Order: sequence, then C-alpha cells, then structure tokens
Amino acid sequence: MRANLLVNTVFTLLPLISTASAAHSPMRNRHEAAPKEFQRALPSASDLEKAASSLLNPTQTDQTQINSRPYKLLTKALPKILKNANSISIHSWELGCFTETLLEVYNPGLTPFEWQQRSCALLEFNDIPWNVLKIAEKSLVAYDWTGSPSDLDACDGKLEDYLDNSKSPVPHVTGGRALINGDGALGDPVSLVPAVWILAQFAKNRLVHLGLEMKQGEDYAWAVGNQLDYLLNGPTQIGIISQREDHWELWADMMYMIPPSLTYMGLSLSDEVYLQTGLEQWSLESQTLLDPSVNIYNHITGWDMRLWATGNGWGVYGAIRNLYAARALSHDSAYVKEAEDTLLKVFTGLFSQLDDQKLLPNYMKQDNATLAVGDTAGTALTVAAYYRFITLCPDKAHSKLTKLAENAFDAVVGKIDNDGWVTHAVDPMGTYGWVVYPNDLSMHSPEAQAFAAKMWKARTEAGI
Ligand SMILES: *[C@@H]1O[C@H](CO)[C@@H](O)[C@H](O)[C@H]1NC(C)=O
Repeated sequence: MRANLLVNTVFTLLPLISTASAAHSPMRNRHEAAPKEFQRALPSASDLEKAASSLLNPTQTDQTQINSRPYKLLTKALPKILKNANSISIHSWELGCFTETLLEVYNPGLTPFEWQQRSCALLEFNDIPWNVLKIAEKSLVAYDWTGSPSDLDACDGKLEDYLDNSKSPVPHVTGGRALINGDGALGDPVSLVPAVWILAQFAKNRLVHLGLEMKQGEDYAWAVGNQLDYLLNGPTQIGIISQREDHWELWADMMYMIPPSLTYMGLSLSDEVYLQTGLEQWSLESQTLLDPSVNIYNHITGWDMRLWATGNGWGVYGAIRNLYAARALSHDSAYVKEAEDTLLKVFTGLFSQLDDQKLLPNYMKQDNATLAVGDTAGTALTVAAYYRFITLCPDKAHSKLTKLAENAFDAVVGKIDNDGWVTHAVDPMGTYGWVVYPNDLSMHSPEAQAFAAKMWKARTEAGI
C-alpha cells in the first residue's frame, strides 16, 4: 500500500516516456546462439524498455521502521534495479516474472498479497498499472489475432466468457495457443497469464483506452483462454502437466510458472476450480521434485536431478503466491496445510546450506566447486518467499530461520553494484550449464534483478 501512493507522482510523467530511448544494455552475451525465428517472435528490448521506463522511486513514501542498513541500501537502489530488469527482460518467463514483480511493488492490490476485488474498468488514473499494461501489450507483439473477437467483430460477450471455449462467443484456436513463444517450454508463457488477464480487464477502462494503443479486452481474454487450452492440452502424466511442450518433463521452475497463474485466475474470478487446480498442480510437482532426504527440490526430472538454488526459489515462491490467493478467497483445504508444512521444511533445508558468504550455493550438496559458487538469484527469491511466509504463517516461522534469512538478504544486497546490477547471479539461460561466473560483471540476470525487488517488497511487508 505504501508503494501505491507513489503512483501519483511518477505516472503523471507517463506521456513523456515514449520518446526516451536510452541504449539498452547488451543482451546477456551467452544468448547469441538463439535461433532467429525465436528472436523474431519476441518483443524487442527497446520496445519493452519504452513501455516501462517510468519506474518509481519507492524511497519517497517509505515509512518503514526496518532498522537495517542493507534494507535501506536496497530501498535506495530499487528504481535502478527495476530499470535494469526492464532493460533485459525479454523471454516469456522473464516478462511473466517482471510484470508480477512490478505489480507486487507498485500495484499490490492486483496481486494475491494485498488483493482488493475491484473493477479494473472503473479504476482511476493513479491506480492503473500503466507499466505492466504496456509490457503485457508489447509481449503479444507476435500474436496471431486471426479469428479473435475483434477480427470477427464479436466483442459483445462477458469478458470471462471468452476464457472458456464452451461459452466463448467466438471459438478458441483449435488445440489452444501460447501467448508468446516459449522456446519449447509449455509452462513459461503461462507466467504471463495474470498480466494479460489484467490487460484484458483494463482494456475496458476509459482512461486506458485513451492512453494506450491496444486491442479489445475480449481479444486479450480470448488469448488467455487459448493459452489455458494450450496448457491443458499439453503432455500430462500422473495428473501433472508438463513444463515442456513436446514431452513430459517437470522442472522446479514450473512451480512458479503454472500453478500461481491458475490460482490467480481463481482469485480474480472467485472460481474454486482454477484455484484447486493450481493448488493441486503445485502439490503434485512438489511431491515429485522434492528430495525428502534433504528437503530441497531437484531441478529437472530425468537429466538435472540436482539441487539448483534458483529452481528452489521458483518452487517456494510459487507456493507462496498460491497460498496468498487461497487466503484471499478464504479457501482452506488439505492442500493449504500441506504446502505450508512443505515450505517450512524446504526453508529449513535451504537455509542450512548457506555458504561462507551467506548465499545459497548455485547447486547444493555436490562437490564441484564451480557449481557450488553462491548464487544471488536463487538466494534472493528464497529470501523473498521466506519473508512472505513470516507474514502468512507467523506461528510456523521461527527466529533461527529468520536470522538466516536476514543474513542471506544482507549477502544479496552486498552483491548489488552501484549501477543497480545484481551481480554474482547464475547465468539463467544455462547456455553452458547453469553456472555462476562471479568475475564476469557483464553477465546480467533479469531474474536476479526482479528477485531482489521481490525480496525488498516481501521484507517491507514483513516489517522486520
Ligand atoms: C564442474 O562443473 C563445471 C561446470 O559445469 C564443469 O565444466 C567441470 O567439468 C566440472 N568439474 C568436474 C571435476 O566435474
């Protein structure tokens, strides 16, 4: 809520930003091998940068009493960190994570964490998540709108009807369609579902329609419907939807990409089926990927059954988003209790692994020193999840874990340079394996940037 107040001052500058064209930072240099078609199907970084270059300064309204020098440093660095995140976030999961992060920091009433059931169509200028809308709109640059509601001149149903092929005034694409190229991932594009569903609803807002060039809300709702169809038509085994589109494979990352998007739809529509499906998918993924001997998640079924820090961060933060959605709907079930208990175990497992620098090793419990270098990305997301957990389950959190989380928080902040880059983060593309190159300062991670912001917000809300 605090951060919300700042929207006033900064978003009035919005009309000015479209002319800004700061040179965007070089793409992570290890991504050069990406096929051309893949790059073409992605929004351009400079478009995205223009879309979200008015990032706010949370220090202005920061009233918090948290008495920690690293926390204060992070507060100060936050605008730069987010601006940098914006300049390098391009891939489906990065855009999904970044838009979610912007909402958490600036428009938390649109997230499960501080959910307010309101009509987006009626919100006033200062409550409109302009940056997120623009990024979501740009993310769909390659979308094929043939057969969409506006294409068929059929924009007269209820927005949510377009989500469901059996009710939709115009049919969905046969077999469904991803929102954005997932480069083989079924799950990653699903991380954009909340942002695009928010875009659909705000398309009904008179001010948004005046301020942004965009399609109709029905088109975006239809696109979300196609995305959900595509997901549900993907490879499934033992009741678990796959993270990959051409074969069944589970990744810890998917615990963030898929279930929280489903529970978000459940929250937004007050729909128990979406909510239950998201909770159940997370539960099944968690059971399959958890190594119960150490209470840490494996990364990928089959070929990376190793304990990767960032995968664990995705896993625990995905559960946290689910649990807040369940709470906002006053939903209680065995899934909720199970997820809370699992989280406590996994936090205990993870925080027992902090290295000499108080970072989570990039890969845990193995001997290769190159793979064991501390990773700020996985550490930041895990710490963010833990601070959210303190607020959600105060009776389960305890002072020993909280102290370790604070140590890890400080360690991540210690790796943020003066330009707002989170250094010492794993190469998220994993082009040469998922490795931290601590001395390669040109290696930038969209994830680490977003995770640092999530960590700031989570601690701000925990207030400790
Ligand atoms: C340790 O991991 C790195 C990065 O994957 C790899 O290049 C190296 O060969 C590994 N070393 C050993 C001894 O396995």
